[in-house]
Amino acid sequence: MEFTTLKGFKDILPGESARWQEIEAKARDLFSAFGYQEIKTPILEKTQLFSRGIGQETDIVSKEMYSFEDIKGRGLTMRPEATASVVRAYIQHRLYQNYPIQKLYAMGPMFRHERPQKGRFRQFHQIDVELFGDPGPKSDAEIISLAMYLFETMGLRDLTLQVNSLGCPDCQPGFKEKLKSYLAEKTSSLCADCQKRAQLNPLRVFDCKVETCRTIVRDAPAIPAFLCRDCRDHFGSLKATLDALNISFEVNDQLVRGLDYYNRTTFEIQTEHLGAQNAVAGGGRYDGLVKTLGGPDHPAIGFAVGIERVVALLEASAPMELLKPDLFIAALGENVDQLTFQWMTALRKLGLWVELDYGGKGLKSQMKKAGRLGAQSVLMVGDDEFRTQKAILRNMNTREQREIDFDNLVLTLKDILKK
Ligand code: HAM
Repeated sequence: MEFTTLKGFKDILPGESARWQEIEAKARDLFSAFGYQEIKTPILEKTQLFSRGIGQETDIVSKEMYSFEDIKGRGLTMRPEATASVVRAYIQHRLYQNYPIQKLYAMGPMFRHERPQKGRFRQFHQIDVELFGDPGPKSDAEIISLAMYLFETMGLRDLTLQVNSLGCPDCQPGFKEKLKSYLAEKTSSLCADCQKRAQLNPLRVFDCKVETCRTIVRDAPAIPAFLCRDCRDHFGSLKATLDALNISFEVNDQLVRGLDYYNRTTFEIQTEHLGAQNAVAGGGRYDGLVKTLGGPDHPAIGFAVGIERVVALLEASAPMELLKPDLFIAALGENVDQLTFQWMTALRKLGLWVELDYGGKGLKSQMKKAGRLGAQSVLMVGDDEFRTQKAILRNMNTREQREIDFDNLVLTLKDILKK
């Protein structure tokens, strides 16, 4: 029997993992400048958290969740996204008590049973950011600008920001009714899924990829005409702040996003370079979710970035160079056997990447190995060097060689090799 990863799941191999570390480190730096702190929540949660939070009629809840019953018959689900879990933690630990504005981020794997394709996996990773406690448009601008700066610090430009406002509980129902009656006239031309959506949750029809449904929604009633005064002002103020920050955006009045908790602002950051899976980040305001999940009536807004998609874009624009050891020690003979091991350990403790061959091979084969690893320098130490108490350091790029006294060798090498 051959064991391989499951379909839609993948290993992140050495080399690629360095890219992940770089992305996560840059994100952490930026988050601390914006005042966001990390929260880690479990991968497994009660199924109801997601069905109630994300919405029963969404694709995620109705067909994509990894759900199962545990040994006691409890319904559990591997998180398909982070927002519902972060909200649960916000309520459970009363995070709002001491600091009314809570700014949190989370990173980790999410699970959705979707059809795998380029940029779409069944286990994927998100960097998720959430801001609780402020209903105003400045928070929307902070969240959107943070998402844009995140891509900027990672060296990704060439991205499109789309924004929309979905209205609030005062104005959205009117729009939904209008949309419902429009769709009712076209029922027979809608796909089977959209015939259901048109009844239960008409906004979802905007997300359908089936061509006939796409044609039908093209002429559907548009949200902007239904927004109440407060929602219009909120959206207007957000757009003005984005302009003031020189962040360009397009308004897409059919951007509803695949989760039901959104109200007012929704946004997505897209690329042209990933085929059908063009969203690298998405988010929006979800002022009703904390209350829906049993907490106080607190507003919130957030977004999530898909790390696999960021990695794919970075790899395409600038493939990552493999990391290389700073030093390879080619040791020959018993005289220097323990000594070279001590040097290697001491240099590693000083932060240098040092390798040593444990196999007792000849010089030629050790030099070959150093070359294969791409070592920047090689320290050659054999019986002759032991006698003179001077090792030979070769710079593998310039081929220059120099002698290094055994006395203080570790500190001398540290000075030479540390960039
Ligand atoms: P989402 O749009 O479902 O939103 O996912 C956010 C991002 O995760 C997407 O833009 C995409 O980059 C990535 N992503 C989603 N599904 C996959 C997949 N199957 N394979 C690879 N990458 C994927 C949310 O999850 C919301 N919780 C975002 C949010 C936070 N809204 C408010 N706060």
